Amino acid sequence: MVKICCLGAGYVGGPTMAVIAYKCPAIEVVVVDISIVRINAWNSEQLPIYEPGLDDVVKNCRGRNLFFSTDIEKHVGEADIIFVSVNTPTKTRGLGAGKAADLTYWESAARMIADVSKSDKIVVEKSTVPVKTAEAIEKILMHNSKGINFQILSNPEFLAEGTAIQDLFAPDRVLIGGRQTTAGLKAVKALKDVYAHWVPEDRIITTNLWSAELSKLAANAFLAQRISSVNAMSALCEATGADVYEVSYAVGKDSRIGPKFLNASVGFGGSCFQKDILNLVYICECNGLTEVANYWKQVIKINDYQKSRFVNRVVSSMFNTVSGKKIAVLGFAFKKDTGDTRETPAIDICKGLLGDKGQISIYDPQVTEDQIQRDLAMNKFDWDHPLHLQPMSPSGVKQVSVVWDAYEATRDAHGVCILTEWDEFKTLDYKRIYDDMQKPAFVFDGRNVVDADKLREIGFIVYSIGKPLDGWLKDMPALV
Ligand code: NAD
Ligand code: UDX
Repeated sequence: MVKICCLGAGYVGGPTMAVIAYKCPAIEVVVVDISIVRINAWNSEQLPIYEPGLDDVVKNCRGRNLFFSTDIEKHVGEADIIFVSVNTPTKTRGLGAGKAADLTYWESAARMIADVSKSDKIVVEKSTVPVKTAEAIEKILMHNSKGINFQILSNPEFLAEGTAIQDLFAPDRVLIGGRQTTAGLKAVKALKDVYAHWVPEDRIITTNLWSAELSKLAANAFLAQRISSVNAMSALCEATGADVYEVSYAVGKDSRIGPKFLNASVGFGGSCFQKDILNLVYICECNGLTEVANYWKQVIKINDYQKSRFVNRVVSSMFNTVSGKKIAVLGFAFKKDTGDTRETPAIDICKGLLGDKGQISIYDPQVTEDQIQRDLAMNKFDWDHPLHLQPMSPSGVKQVSVVWDAYEATRDAHGVCILTEWDEFKTLDYKRIYDDMQKPAFVFDGRNVVDADKLREIGFIVYSIGKPLDGWLKDMPALV
């Protein structure tokens, strides 16, 4: 029986390993983590992450060939293939702070693997890492190996949160990079055989190590670049009376461009896009490619601009101040169908509104009050360090309340900001919400999920991303 061990029971390690175990009953998969809280949750009825379809997959194979454990050294020692899916956050201090990937967790994982291994291993980079990381990992493993043979593979993960299980069941592609030597190619084949249990062969791409590592950063940069492109257009649409939905529909009909990932929004969030582009920028700078670095930096700049543009719009249209006004925030997660708040645009929007002394009342169907208070109290980039997985005292920000109902959040509010595209926000009783709000009642739809015309008929003043402005606002150029 092939034995797999995965270091890191997070958003990637957990679902990815659960699907491997589900699809390969003859393989034993053990997921290990330094966080006891996380492992206990994986072994309980309440999994540590919310992901549609995940519960069923885990329940199907947990205790059969899928195990979650904190006994890291034992399971690493016994494994044939070790996936490393630990955090690779942005460095917060020292060389490359604010851009470079912090490989502390990866390095300590590699040293531990070298320490406890007594047989040959295939070590798989599942985390997103800078190109050439495998070379550094090889050095650590080889110089501590006591004669054991390690093969390093790059097998980046392309799942998106909220659709992780369907992405893993039917991936567009699986990418495996390895050394182009006999031993390297043999290791690539061994990993390919695992995925071949359910992924068609023509979807399993094999490359050299550096291409695989760089392809992951490139894919995320291309995806984020599309969103910044459409968001940049949304600003121009608002200025000219064009409608960003109509523009992106027309543009996406070109089969060379395609229709996906062209939804204008309040900005992209999530643990990957910003981190990985900053990492790419840093690598370009280290290689003396200043123009290339500047090109990709712009994707982040437009994203920051989109978030601050949204805050400015809220404040300026509400008579240039939200001080003392209740603002309802509907949605805090970085996208629908996840409880994940890492780098969610809601953090910057809420901080912006708090900066103008707004009183905010937040409702999200999947995010707890603790999490929200912690996010609003945290410094940039601090969220991705495992210490912060442990409970922390709340921010004590009195201007923020978190409630479990959209109607409570909006009661007596002056404005509503929709920041996550949860389906339930489309079908709320907006007449009831309007009746309970202060007048004039504003809606700022950061995800273009509501029917703005219907809301205007009710009496709301509506601002959508990239859409012609509400007539009432247009007549007040001094304020917008
Ligand atoms: P996560 O924070 O959810 O999980 C990482 C886990 O690793 C944590 O539970 C942490 O306790 C654990 N860990 C840290 N050091 C460890 C060690 N030495 N031994 C054992 N466990 C350790 O992060 P994630 O979202 O799963 O991301 C992991 C990697 O995958 C990152 O490099 C990320 O960029 C990449 N990635 C993430 C996504 C995504 O959608 N979240 C998608 C593709 C790739
Ligand atoms: C992303 C990549 O899609 C995935 O391949 C990679 O493995 C990890 O990073 P994820 O961050 O989970 O996945 O979600 P994604 O669907 O890409 O959304 C990221 C952000 O972009 C979200 O905030 C989302 O709301 C936003 N977005 C997405 C838009 O604003 N407009 C779009 O058209 C699409």
